[in-house]
Amino acid sequence: MSNIGVDSSFLDRLKSKANIVDVIGHYISLQKRGKSILACCPFHMEKTPSFHINEAEQYYHCFGCGDGGDIFKFVRKYENVDFMHAVEIIAKLAGVEMPEVVYNKEIVELKKRKNKALEINKVAAKHYNENLFSEAGAKAYQYLTDRGLSRKTIIKFGLGYSKDYHEMIKYLRKLGFKDSEIVDAGVGQASANGIYDSYNERITFPIIDVYGQVVGFSARILDNNKQIAKYKNTAANITFDKSRILYGLNNVKKLKQTDGINEILILEGQMDVIKLFEAGIQNCVACLGTALTKEHVTLLKRFSEKIVLSLDGDSAGQKATFKSIDILESQNLDVRVVKIPEKLDPDEFVSKYGKAAFLKLVENAKTGTEYKLEVLASEYNLKDSFEKSKFLKQALEILKNLSDIDKEIYLSTLSKIANMPIDILRRNLKGVPVIINKGMPVSAKDEGEKQQEVQSQVNDGFVTARKFVLAALLHKKAYASFKEDEYFDLVDSELKKLYELIKQNIKVGDLYNYFNEEESPQIFDIVCYKFNFDNEASEVKFFEDSIKKIKLRSLENKKNIINENMRTTLDADNRKKLINEMNEVLQQIKKIKTEEI
Ligand code: UTP
Ligand code: MN
Repeated sequence: MSNIGVDSSFLDRLKSKANIVDVIGHYISLQKRGKSILACCPFHMEKTPSFHINEAEQYYHCFGCGDGGDIFKFVRKYENVDFMHAVEIIAKLAGVEMPEVVYNKEIVELKKRKNKALEINKVAAKHYNENLFSEAGAKAYQYLTDRGLSRKTIIKFGLGYSKDYHEMIKYLRKLGFKDSEIVDAGVGQASANGIYDSYNERITFPIIDVYGQVVGFSARILDNNKQIAKYKNTAANITFDKSRILYGLNNVKKLKQTDGINEILILEGQMDVIKLFEAGIQNCVACLGTALTKEHVTLLKRFSEKIVLSLDGDSAGQKATFKSIDILESQNLDVRVVKIPEKLDPDEFVSKYGKAAFLKLVENAKTGTEYKLEVLASEYNLKDSFEKSKFLKQALEILKNLSDIDKEIYLSTLSKIANMPIDILRRNLKGVPVIINKGMPVSAKDEGEKQQEVQSQVNDGFVTARKFVLAALLHKKAYASFKEDEYFDLVDSELKKLYELIKQNIKVGDLYNYFNEEESPQIFDIVCYKFNFDNEASEVKFFEDSIKKIKLRSLENKKNIINENMRTTLDADNRKKLINEMNEVLQQIKKIKTEEI
């Protein structure tokens, strides 16, 4: 594990000290029932516990939502932190001292600079906030309350006010910060006459990341008529990267831990987020004057599988929404799109029509594909045959990359929109070439695996048998032993690795050191295998049958290879040898098959 900054021997030591029962017990209440330790799953709503901890194997698994993992996975998910943060938290809980992380000099320097910048931003946010509540901030405070924000919400979001070009700079200097550091943090801006406050005479919105750190600001003018940009955001710097930060996600994270969330709404601007919060809709984030990026989506995915987009409805906004839908869907999120009437933004809509009306819009949100089809349809006059034909061509382009099921669903939508029989659309869709996702290289491993899967369709049951045998061995079932592993033809390198680890008697919880759930779903299918058998005897029987299937598959493979060699060998001695080998294999196959009867 090279990407984490501490070496794996430390992680092993930490795992041996931090018992999973204590770590999870620190967060949620556990019930002991016989050998099992149970809890209500903290990752989904439930009243009867289906969250199991296996102490001997040091892993957890929830039969309700399918989530499972080791201590690192649990803490990462519960605290919504990255791997290194989870390691630090667990080390603290277990009273294990973190090792001195060896970084090179540049990284140490960078870390120092970053910490300094974070410190300045934090101090500045607090001071701007004090300003807002002082006499100098009265006008700004009035502006915010005029926009319908309560004192409580203003405090919750840490809003503030920059009095002028110099006050903040003087304040920071007095605290001992150097000009270069103030500029580095983005609060100060350099000029020929020294540095000045970047957010001069603006209302400040601190931008807080999911770890609760102030990484920058968005700052709004009070008077819309000025010929300057309405909002000024921190320029990209050591702490602030707008492609990786979502305004409001820190609050959504807390909300998820306290009340739980069903979805996250992505809005156009921070005022929308704050205004909806005021109205009691708190699961909202906003991009800060930038399009949604892949990094944003990776971040969001940690908090919710369902995303509702409520972005501007003008034509630039619609284009941006199309792109956002694609990025979200490419990461398998459930995407919905809200269409707000009258070209209002969420803030304006809620002010005018209230919370319930907005929630109704969210409830009636379209799926990504529905939205695309409807927007596209609105661009054409469907009563005109020529335009209708152009529309249909484009619409089929939208459908062509969908799964078969989705194709059927949206063909029916399209058939209604265009008033065209579904059969004709379906036939035309088949003629549209599909673009294979270029980001998915087919490796040699996949090829081997694919061949195995193709074969398995003929001689079915092998893949199931392989999975079950690996699961039974991994979970150390009493009946499960397999000594003749020359028969285990594991073409797939992941499965091979898993099998090696099983033979070394690995704890299930330690598999998370070797595999990652996103990259190796088949491994975690085996980890979470459901042994659904009526009784022990049928489970044992299934194991024996599976072993036979595996052996037969291996022998069939051998047979094919010998056949192939026979075809190409002319040497008489060699042929004789091959014939002997073939007889041997055939006998073994016969033996296994007769045992079956
Ligand atoms: P909008 O222009 O939609 O502003 O910009 P808004 O959210 O409705 O703001 P209010 O209601 O007038 O206060 C959406 C987002 O784009 C970014 C900001 O993050 C804003 O929230 N933006 C906008 C800028 O970065 N600079 C600008 O000059 C304007
Ligand atoms: Mn607005």
